[in-house]
Amino acid sequence: MDKLKVFGKANLNGSIKIPGAKNAVLPIMACSILSNQSLHLTNVPNLVDILTMKKLLKNFGIVFHSHENSLSVIANNISNQVADYDLVRKMRASILVFGPLLSRFGKAKISLPGGCSIGTRPINLHLYGLERLGASFIIKDGYVIGKVKDKLKGTSIKLPLVSVGATENILMASVLAKGKTTIINAAKEPEVKDLSNCLNKMGAKIVGAGTSIIKIEGVSKLKEAEHSIISDRIVAGTYIIAAIMLNKNFVVKNINPKHLETPIKILKQMNAKLDIGDNYIKINSTHSIKGATIKTKPYPGFPTDLQAQMMALMSLADGKSEIKENIFENRFLHVPELNRLGADISVKNDIAFINGNREFKGAQVMASDLRASVSLVLAGLSAKGITTINRVYHLDRGYEKIEKTLGNCGPKIERLK
Ligand code: UD1
Repeated sequence: MDKLKVFGKANLNGSIKIPGAKNAVLPIMACSILSNQSLHLTNVPNLVDILTMKKLLKNFGIVFHSHENSLSVIANNISNQVADYDLVRKMRASILVFGPLLSRFGKAKISLPGGCSIGTRPINLHLYGLERLGASFIIKDGYVIGKVKDKLKGTSIKLPLVSVGATENILMASVLAKGKTTIINAAKEPEVKDLSNCLNKMGAKIVGAGTSIIKIEGVSKLKEAEHSIISDRIVAGTYIIAAIMLNKNFVVKNINPKHLETPIKILKQMNAKLDIGDNYIKINSTHSIKGATIKTKPYPGFPTDLQAQMMALMSLADGKSEIKENIFENRFLHVPELNRLGADISVKNDIAFINGNREFKGAQVMASDLRASVSLVLAGLSAKGITTINRVYHLDRGYEKIEKTLGNCGPKIERLK
């Protein structure tokens, strides 16, 4: 399994261009199932999760043509509606094919995703919404098998808690349903809005995505469309935090700063010197970063996907910080590893207490989940000495060849096979 060797006290200069958002392109690839016409995507990132989604969709009979960051998808010959364990276990977002398959073909069978390192991550809300639209399910041999009598029918669906994936699955399923669907307490994440924008270009009739009430009027078929994926706010936030930790002048380009409003607000409160442009953020060096108290929340709150990176920064900040993790019950796996690098963090239930003014020192560490992995890279870059990060495959799911992309801006990171 690959390891990364991260050389500390790294330099960082110039700028970095942020690729398309993983969490936008995955549901958008899944929505191609709804149409027998081509969908042309641009600004597609080069990530392992995208390859996993391609494999899953290819198994159904979907055909892809890709060139650099463009991807054309055509689902005019789907022969199979079964998603096997081997692919679903690699990526929980595989569940996003369930709604589209049920909607277009009236049947689907998908391996239950099960838990993952950051929590149990159930799919009850996905099933609840699809059931409200008229699907029925049985669970057998580790698979959820769904069917629809006739056609899905629009209705009002109130989600008891905000779920990005459930909102997306229900939204996709209701596009071809008969009549009108309303999703209440929908996730407001920019990735949900991007999915809706893409579906509307394909001929869907959706209003309200990006707010907590989404209304969908069912249509009978979709048409050929082109869509450019929004840029990845989490990757952008990660590199902004890296520049602050390394105390360098740096520019993060090709982003929508509005998608990062809460992290920007918190970073400014911590004394970070940020110039916000229309499609870039410039980080100016500063020596006096202060601690902060944050709580992760659904969008527009502070994203759980930036929590681990923020914790690495808080370890270097002046004074004490606190992070309450409200989204996933076990998302502090990076804490013992950051502590191995010299942090002073303790956890009580869902709150991490961070004593600042620390200095990271290179050591051997183990990556657990995607964002935990990148927090160790950030700590390693700012550390004294060399940090070796074991088991980095999670990182490649969400960051394009980090040793190259960051390496082009100064840091020295080596991949050991
Ligand atoms: C998505 C993102 C992930 C991000 C998360 C929260 C993708 C591919 N992944 O994951 O990077 O960390 O949003 O912003 O977009 N829940 C249930 N029942 C369900 C579904 C969810 O109880 O049926 C719970 C989850 O366990 C969690 C909370 O709802 O506690 C939010 O999860 P959700 O928004 O669904 O996350 P994902 O869509 O899996």
